Amino acid sequence: MEAPRESQVTVSRAEFSIRTSGVETALRAVVTGASSGIGMAISTAIASTGATMCMVGRDIKRLELAAHTARYYARSVFVHEADLTDESAIDRLARRVEEDMQGLDVLVHCAGAHAKGAIDATPVEQLDNLYRTNVRMPFLLTKALLPFLKTRQGQIVFINSSQGRNARAYTGLFAATQHALKALADSLRDEVNGDGVRVLSVYPGRTATPRMQSLYELENQKYQSDLLLQPEDIAKVVLNSLLLAKTAEVTNIEIRPRIKSY
Ligand SMILES: NC(=O)c1ccc[n+]([C@@H]2O[C@H](COP(=O)([O-])OP(=O)(O)OC[C@H]3O[C@@H](n4cnc5c(N)ncnc54)[C@H](OP(=O)(O)O)[C@@H]3O)[C@@H](O)[C@H]2O)c1
Repeated sequence: MEAPRESQVTVSRAEFSIRTSGVETALRAVVTGASSGIGMAISTAIASTGATMCMVGRDIKRLELAAHTARYYARSVFVHEADLTDESAIDRLARRVEEDMQGLDVLVHCAGAHAKGAIDATPVEQLDNLYRTNVRMPFLLTKALLPFLKTRQGQIVFINSSQGRNARAYTGLFAATQHALKALADSLRDEVNGDGVRVLSVYPGRTATPRMQSLYELENQKYQSDLLLQPEDIAKVVLNSLLLAKTAEVTNIEIRPRIKSY
């Protein structure tokens, strides 16, 4: 198998062992949105610890491509093709966690939808679509997988957005769903900390992913990926937080491009 690119985020097995206080237990992780962008980078980073991975997305071809790199490091990689807005797909994923992975340490919510437009020009159906993918879907998936996470004192990561903190013009509906996702994560943390479950929200600014490239095209702007955050930057901070000793918890991370090009 071809060796991964140098820029990809990895930790050595020895480093993983030290960071987890010498107890080297292979993580079992589910990452949604794993076929592209930030989710793919986070999957590679977690895989680098020798984890058992379940990479979830709708497009099996893109998923298989993304899994190719993860397989270089991981103990094993399951690819799970599913549109998670469908409740029966969430049930199937929960069965897979139970039967194939036999438990779960890490759930990363990275799948999501985006839309832009002025509030007075946007049909309500757009709000419904964004709500279904960005709020209802992570809510249902969290509920379905929480029993496994409680058993292993696991961790949940919500990849939110800078728009989940500060709404700006023409992103009102997307920002509303990201504010709701923040509320969900904050309440959940309060509810499950006592069970030993850690909950992290990450609020990235613009990141060089296929979604962002399409957005620049839509805005008729020149796309310069090197002016934006890189998916690997986010993967690095997520992995560092996941590997912290259980005596500590990172709750919120804001990360944005150093150069303000937008
Ligand atoms: N890029 C940015 O600038 C930026 C900034 C802040 C926050 N974020 C957040 O980061 C997350 C990832 O963004 P990205 O830019 O990496 O996006 P991306 O490249 O467009 O990837 C989105 C991923 O989500 C999956 N997905 C979407 N809807 C799904 C559904 N219903 N069921 C299952 N999988 C679904 C896609 O699967 P398919 O391949 O099958 O379509 C894909 O793997 C999003 O939640 C986004 O809001 C991104």
